[in-house]
Amino acid sequence: MKILAIDTSCDDTSVAISENQKILSNEFWSKLKLHSEWGGVVPSEAKRQHEEFLPLVIEKALTDAGISIEDIDAIAVTYGPGLAIALEPGIAKAKELAEKYDKPLIAVNHMIGHIYANLAQDIEEKSLSLVDEFKFPALALTISGGHTDLYLMEGHFKFEHIGQTLDDSIGEAFDKVGRTLGFGFPAGKAMEDNALKGNDSAFNFPRPLSNTSDYNWSYSGLKTAVLYQIKKLTGEYHSKPGKGNYKMEDLASSLTDSQIADIAASFQKAAVDALIIKLRKAIKNIKPKMFVVGGGVIANTLLRTELEKLVAENDIEITYPKPMWLCTDNAAMIAVTAYYMTKILEDKAYHNDLESLDRVPNLEI
Ligand code: KG4
Ligand code: ZN
Repeated sequence: MKILAIDTSCDDTSVAISENQKILSNEFWSKLKLHSEWGGVVPSEAKRQHEEFLPLVIEKALTDAGISIEDIDAIAVTYGPGLAIALEPGIAKAKELAEKYDKPLIAVNHMIGHIYANLAQDIEEKSLSLVDEFKFPALALTISGGHTDLYLMEGHFKFEHIGQTLDDSIGEAFDKVGRTLGFGFPAGKAMEDNALKGNDSAFNFPRPLSNTSDYNWSYSGLKTAVLYQIKKLTGEYHSKPGKGNYKMEDLASSLTDSQIADIAASFQKAAVDALIIKLRKAIKNIKPKMFVVGGGVIANTLLRTELEKLVAENDIEITYPKPMWLCTDNAAMIAVTAYYMTKILEDKAYHNDLESLDRVPNLEI
């Protein structure tokens, strides 16, 4: 089954072509750097970019895959969660293609996409993440810019939400601390690169909620503790007139490179530790057959290493997307999820009433 998948949930205009689990092509275009100076994504800019890029990215993805749109069996599109006005052009384009070429449409949840990214294969049908299938019961963890959630999966598309962040997501904490240290957006990769040069025990940041028996996290307290430490090192907040806020970017210029590296390393260690403490509890209590991870933050090497250690201690299998491009936002994961939806949910995979398909910015699993 050949699928053309579109994801415009944030600031990447992503299009992929797949055949079953095989990724034939995967394009993601972004003017991300334009957004960096704002310390985040400007939704209206993202929308404009998607509208401008979509026709070109679709054409490029089809050309790379060596097939024409007539040969496609279904169109898949992310309908949430994500930035409302960024989702809109992707959905509109998917509807337009479905109608024009008379193809069925599959509406995909972006976070389920991050989980099913693990099942993507290369052109020779080799798993890109070295796993052939999920084994149930599985524990699934989604860690991204907007999410830190834990699910018990008893089967394909059977999710029980058993844990979550009570405030910021782990990716958001990386981004906010990174912004204060003067990195662009998103800051996860720059934080990791700087952490490599620093001492991870230079500062003893908290591991919030580590003593509670639930599987919840809190990253806002950790972020605040780091910002407070930065304030102590630099002497004061720089007030932004009228806003009662402070210009976070300015703080970085008062720090030395080694202070920045030590803060990044100590923060990263605390953020990863806090995640692992709860996952250790969940694995011990639930005894899953497999631990499945998805979302941009799994690009982080320290986290990968600590997760590998954790599952080795407990003798369970782990899978996370191995190539970096499959960790962060991409349409290949939407294509693979759509294929699995048709395989498992059969007719229910399709969204038959095109008119009614709308964006759901806060869509949950
Ligand atoms: O899944 P994703 O690409 O987009 C969302 O759906 O949100 O995740 C983006 C998040 C950002 O917060 C980014 O800073 C974080 O993933 N991230 C990382 C790394 N690479 C990306 N966080 C820590 N270390 C990294 N190497
Ligand atoms: Zn994502």
